[in-house]
Amino acid sequence: MDLDLKARSVIVTGAASNIGRAIALKFAEEGAKITIADLDVESGEKVAALAKKAGAADAQVIKTDITDLDSVENLFDTVAKTFGTVEALVNNVGWDDLMFFTQTTPELWQKLIAINYVGLLNCTKVALAHMVPNGGGSMVSISSDASRQGEPREAVYGGLKAATNSFMKTIAKENGRYNIRCNCVCPGVTVPETTEETSENSMWKEKDAMFTEDQFVAIAKTLPLKRIGKPQDVANAVVFLSSNHVAGYITGQVLSASGGYSMIG
Ligand SMILES: NC(=O)c1ccc[n+]([C@@H]2O[C@H](COP(=O)([O-])OP(=O)(O)OC[C@H]3O[C@@H](n4cnc5c(N)ncnc54)[C@H](O)[C@@H]3O)[C@@H](O)[C@H]2O)c1
Repeated sequence: MDLDLKARSVIVTGAASNIGRAIALKFAEEGAKITIADLDVESGEKVAALAKKAGAADAQVIKTDITDLDSVENLFDTVAKTFGTVEALVNNVGWDDLMFFTQTTPELWQKLIAINYVGLLNCTKVALAHMVPNGGGSMVSISSDASRQGEPREAVYGGLKAATNSFMKTIAKENGRYNIRCNCVCPGVTVPETTEETSENSMWKEKDAMFTEDQFVAIAKTLPLKRIGKPQDVANAVVFLSSNHVAGYITGQVLSASGGYSMIG
């Protein structure tokens, strides 16, 4: 199926690692011009090299801290100069440290809010300033199944991802008139094949940082599709939603790509 993404300019935040990396590489297969916006430039450059090999029209890395509005403005201004325009944005950066709410501290809440929510606001604000005058665009934000049904040890993060879903729906309603579509994709547990596919700051840098092998087996058993998610499972959904050609009438939606963990009617 032709997604009509050839030579389209796409920014993927957090693309130096795991899910963002897979999204960048999937856009590469479609021949897009890819900007990897991440704190970790070294890992980002490895993804950019792979993206060029996989068929990207071009690929660049721009060191970006999404929690800093000036840094995000620099990202979009640089992309406008190098690739001419920004047609699609994937808000992929996110972070969590699993623990029960009673174990969390106000310092941890602030860090979670900055990375998972303020970063999204910064990127959306600047993206709209570019996309409205450009005549349209697509935004896909990576949320989580933790946003949809509550998840023990993810209280603050899950709440912020629920806020992400609601925020993107409002942005979709406010900006449909400008031909801008906004959707969310919710992964479940989604694990890189090797630690080579992660960046320095990745939640998955240590193989058992999040879950033990026994826990992975137990999680897989609970899923209707009986396996843990791969980053490519999420990337396929994101690239589909980013394509105006095949998803041009889809906006304000929240789609789980999680092996059936959440089933929301
Ligand atoms: N992997 C999962 O199981 C899972 C499940 C549900 C939702 N998600 C969501 O999917 C997205 C990607 O998760 P992942 O597992 O690939 O994460 P990851 O930790 O492997 O990678 C995140 C990337 O974001 C970058 N980053 C972190 N803070 C940044 C900042 N302030 N500015 C710019 N870059 C920054 C890191 O350098 C890293 O390269 C996140 O939004 C996450 O919440 C992941």
